[in-house]
Amino acid sequence: MEKRTVAIAADHAGYALKEALKVRLAEAGFGVIDAGTDSEASCDYPVYAEAGCRKVLDGEAELCILVCGTGAGMSIAANKIPGIRAAACSDVFTARHIRLHNDANALCIGARVVGEGLAWELVSAFLSSGFEGGKHARRVGLITALEEKGRSSGQ
Ligand code: RB5
Repeated sequence: MEKRTVAIAADHAGYALKEALKVRLAEAGFGVIDAGTDSEASCDYPVYAEAGCRKVLDGEAELCILVCGTGAGMSIAANKIPGIRAAACSDVFTARHIRLHNDANALCIGARVVGEGLAWELVSAFLSSGFEGGKHARRVGLITALEEKGRSSGQ
């Protein structure tokens, strides 16, 4: 079976958790593309939201994991990128359902909100769930239409 590859990126607040998740992902058999940052030096999360999401949009990675202090900044930034559907999660039910119902391609985690154990459960739920399609595909299509509306109105 072909190896699944995921991208992971973080700002300084998420750096340590990113490093821990990278180890767990590799142990679980995933290919991992690290899109930065590479230290705990202060940096700007939108830069790394884009770097991680770019790997998905370029087809190098199937899904993306973004870590900042709260998960909120990463999700706000990532959702500005056409083609990205990102959500900040701190419970396993939501982490599963953003794949099942929203076809999310980016999971955002707050390193100041959840510990490493729960973060790994979130990642595991996200990566092991697939989009259910059906009525959910219509709704995701409407999200894409919103993106296109934003583009054509010059946003
Ligand atoms: C950095 O201090 C913090 O603001 C950032 O990691 C994130 O939580 C923003 O949403």
